[in-house]
Amino acid sequence: MKVITALALAFAFTATTVNAGPIGLVDQISNFGFNKGDELRLIQYGDDQPARWMKESEILEMFRLGIKYMDITDYQNAYDDVVIESTWKPFIPAKARYADEVQPYIGNLTTTTMEIALKKLTSFKNRYYKSKWGAESCRWLISAIRDIAEEADGVSVKEFEHSWDQFSIIARFEGSNSDLDNELVIVGAHQDSVNLWLPSFGTAPGADDDGSGTVTILEAFRSLVENGFKPERPVEFHWYSAEEAGLLGSQAVAAEYKKQGKQVVAMLQNDMTGFIGSGGEQIGIVADHVNPELTEFLKTLVDTYAAIPYVNTKCGYACSDHASWAKHGYPSAFTIESAFEDSNKAIHTTGDVISRLSFDHMKEFAKVATGFAIELSHERSE
Ligand SMILES: *[C@@H]1O[C@H](CO)[C@@H](O)[C@H](O)[C@H]1NC(C)=O
Ligand SMILES: [Zn+2]
Repeated sequence: MKVITALALAFAFTATTVNAGPIGLVDQISNFGFNKGDELRLIQYGDDQPARWMKESEILEMFRLGIKYMDITDYQNAYDDVVIESTWKPFIPAKARYADEVQPYIGNLTTTTMEIALKKLTSFKNRYYKSKWGAESCRWLISAIRDIAEEADGVSVKEFEHSWDQFSIIARFEGSNSDLDNELVIVGAHQDSVNLWLPSFGTAPGADDDGSGTVTILEAFRSLVENGFKPERPVEFHWYSAEEAGLLGSQAVAAEYKKQGKQVVAMLQNDMTGFIGSGGEQIGIVADHVNPELTEFLKTLVDTYAAIPYVNTKCGYACSDHASWAKHGYPSAFTIESAFEDSNKAIHTTGDVISRLSFDHMKEFAKVATGFAIELSHERSE
């Protein structure tokens, strides 16, 4: 989540070989545990550039320069056919139509649950996907989600296992219309955090990135569960592992859903919702690498359900988990705390702490996520 500098671009062009020179001492130290250090991974960092095999040290260097990427090592063939089999195409409405249904859930949102949950999430040394703290934090998070869902009918909470210890989490509301069983609406955030100097051992509270999105959608989920939400088509809330390592968790989930032939109507990512930028209270709506119709609809949701305006922005290639869904041809969209260039500069460091953030700001994103889940859970043709 950094602006790409000229230096970063220069790096991208030189990183064409896996033998890109000696590894510095800092890298040798900080790579310890990032991966084996010499394992090659297939990395894509642009639509118009071929994926390249890179060493962990090179990937980390790229990350520090602010270049976002997808690690597609495990999905090399998964993206060959981005057309969803069958002629099914989701209908994306142009206007919000269910305000009467949405408002009570929005009225029930508070900042209390978010504050308690974010304090806990930031108390782990980091939530790095391969660290012991990353494994502990996902266990705490799923227990919090299960506490909300336990009494509810038609709501399930599952671990989505990966080859590393930090699982992704999927909470699901079953739909009431069995004809729409194979369709779904997804609201997502990523649970992992990273200290970009010392990924495995460094302190990374990740309050904003993406503790804020994690608790934003947790609060939307809580209001929906506790007030008896029964969608027409299934609605899922996803907390992804390993976003910071090249969107590994969301790619695994999206690839699995694609394989199962699931029909994703719409996916909304919440990554960084807590920091108020110099533009004041705004909801950044990302316009690049997203579905244009869904993004237009998202703007009407902000107008209808939030108390603050939106601002159009761009965030570049693979900047968060919505990109994993887009890559499979599913409509996805992304809300962020401000215009991208105004966003929190303390992310990926020890300074990404709660004191820089506003829970009232996060609550505005919870309103939009709630509206998104309810509005799109209805079958519509106009
Ligand atoms: C939210 O809804 C729950 C369940 O209906 C209720 O117990 C609680 O008092 C409500 N809280 C607010 C702030 O509206
Ligand atoms: Zn993030």
